[in-house]
Amino acid sequence: MADLWSYKGKRCVVVGCFSGIGEATARELVRLGGEVHGFDIRPSPVELASFQSCDLRDRAQIDAALAAVPGPIDALFYCAGLPQTFPAIEVIQVNFLSVRYLIEQALPKMPEGSAIAVIASTAGNGYMQRLDTIRELIATPDYDAGLAWAEPRLAELGDPYTFAKEAVIVWGLLQSQELIKRGVRINLLSPGPTESGMTKDFEAVSSAKMIDVFTRPINRRSSSAEQSYPLIFLNTPGASYVNGLNLVADAGFTAGAMMGVFDPMVLLKEAMEA
Ligand SMILES: NC(=O)c1ccc[n+]([C@@H]2O[C@H](COP(=O)([O-])OP(=O)(O)OC[C@H]3O[C@@H](n4cnc5c(N)ncnc54)[C@H](O)[C@@H]3O)[C@@H](O)[C@H]2O)c1
Repeated sequence: MADLWSYKGKRCVVVGCFSGIGEATARELVRLGGEVHGFDIRPSPVELASFQSCDLRDRAQIDAALAAVPGPIDALFYCAGLPQTFPAIEVIQVNFLSVRYLIEQALPKMPEGSAIAVIASTAGNGYMQRLDTIRELIATPDYDAGLAWAEPRLAELGDPYTFAKEAVIVWGLLQSQELIKRGVRINLLSPGPTESGMTKDFEAVSSAKMIDVFTRPINRRSSSAEQSYPLIFLNTPGASYVNGLNLVADAGFTAGAMMGVFDPMVLLKEAMEA
């Protein structure tokens, strides 16, 4: 049997390979023998098979980056993201609309047995409470229609980061139902607080103490590498029966909140008052 965990000879695309979890993912995939092609707006410090400069807010740049990578693509990792310190519409673009667009455009190059892993977030945990609104966005037929749906609703959608993460989770779970029919798996990873290029942005929006509420019960933040390992697992043949999973890598925070071991709202209030 082929090595279930090796990436030897596998063509991988890592979207968002400049810093954080995407950089760690690209680095580990190279170490595992993968042929790794990276896309980012800034050059990657990792030695890659190829690097495509790509601003994910621009569809022509996504098209050009994908055209530069020969098929077949065995594993696609969408790790790019923008925090809520950026304009709301750009957050919705990079964290949802461009995910959908890039994956749709990449699929013709993805054969049976290939797999896709997308980084979402525990910030999107509440997706079931907003399903109807999210379904409206998902029902838009293309990028322009998605933009036209979102632009007039930015105020009512609230935090664009939370909304885009909820949307990408729902979209990914729905895609898993269709893609598996052609032998392609798609899963999501929802990290808890992680040290990365985004840390300073998150700390500008809410205090470090408030972010650390979400590190219960381990009481430390994740490193980017610690998130790359489960992400990489999702696209191995060892995960051949794993499809439509939102893998929550938060060291047990969601479990503790769901089981009533602690109340995040109470902890947040305490952190705000501290
Ligand atoms: N850091 C956390 O606490 C945390 C927690 C949960 C989820 N996430 C998610 O993890 C993913 C990776 O983020 P990270 O934490 O490693 O942060 P990061 O800022 O280090 O990485 C984000 C990457 O996306 C790239 N990027 C941003 N805008 C782009 C654009 N327009 N075009 C091309 N590339 C662009 C950046 O250059 C960078 O390489 C994101 O989806 C983020 O939302 C992060």
